[in-house]
Amino acid sequence: MLDRLMAIQKIATTAQTREDMWGQIMRQEKVADIAEVGVWRGAFAAHMLQHCGSIKRYSMIDPWQQLPDWNKPANKHNSVFESIFEEAMACTDFARDKRHVMRCTTKEAAPDIAPESLDMAYIDGDHTLRGITIDMMLMFEKIRPGGLLGGDDFGKSVWQHGPDFDPTFVCPYAIYFAEAMNVPIIALPFSQFLILKDSSLGFELIHFTEGYKNLRLNKMMRLPPRFKEGAQ
Ligand SMILES: C[S@@+](CC[C@H](N)C(=O)[O-])C[C@H]1O[C@@H](n2cnc3c(N)ncnc32)[C@H](O)[C@@H]1O
Repeated sequence: MLDRLMAIQKIATTAQTREDMWGQIMRQEKVADIAEVGVWRGAFAAHMLQHCGSIKRYSMIDPWQQLPDWNKPANKHNSVFESIFEEAMACTDFARDKRHVMRCTTKEAAPDIAPESLDMAYIDGDHTLRGITIDMMLMFEKIRPGGLLGGDDFGKSVWQHGPDFDPTFVCPYAIYFAEAMNVPIIALPFSQFLILKDSSLGFELIHFTEGYKNLRLNKMMRLPPRFKEGAQ
């Protein structure tokens, strides 16, 4: 186990970008069956399919449509989502025999994914408290024992998109979730997190990047000065 963690730490401290880091982690972990929740234009999927030869099946879960209950800036009109969907299909077309397109929400996709069938899930969909709760709870059970649950937007302020949009609660929710499941969670650079589905290790917040030592909610929920009235 120590070797596994040390390999991930080395990748985390040397990777140049989020995509580079996950590509290396997936290669290291020999990820074969993966699901990405929230695919958008497909740039992340395309990178992984291009740089991670171990991937045999890549499930792309995204409704690619305007949602009535998602107060985030990426909730575009259906006409915009149609071209975003086409872009996602075009940039992953080179790997069409590996991709499995699930054009629906996580909740709608979940019944069609067998329990403990995935090596990894990457959560990057609805980051509101409601969204991250649904995604973590439904996708964790799809990961095989020993597998990975990673995610994006593990930010230290909940005001990722300012006070006019719903707050982002990936952090600290993912930490609370790992504690409840009694598994370790790693804080990674580029505002990423990684949960190892191995309850023999027990819960621990492992720091492979700075800034996650003081996660008091009243601090995380303080409105940054740039969003205050009159700020330029
Ligand atoms: C930030 S983008 C994803 C970016 C992408 N992972 C990347 O790295 O390029 C968020 C996406 O989540 C999708 N989304 C929103 N709510 C969702 C839900 N309930 N289930 C699945 N996907 C959802 C949106 O349609 C949008 O395309």
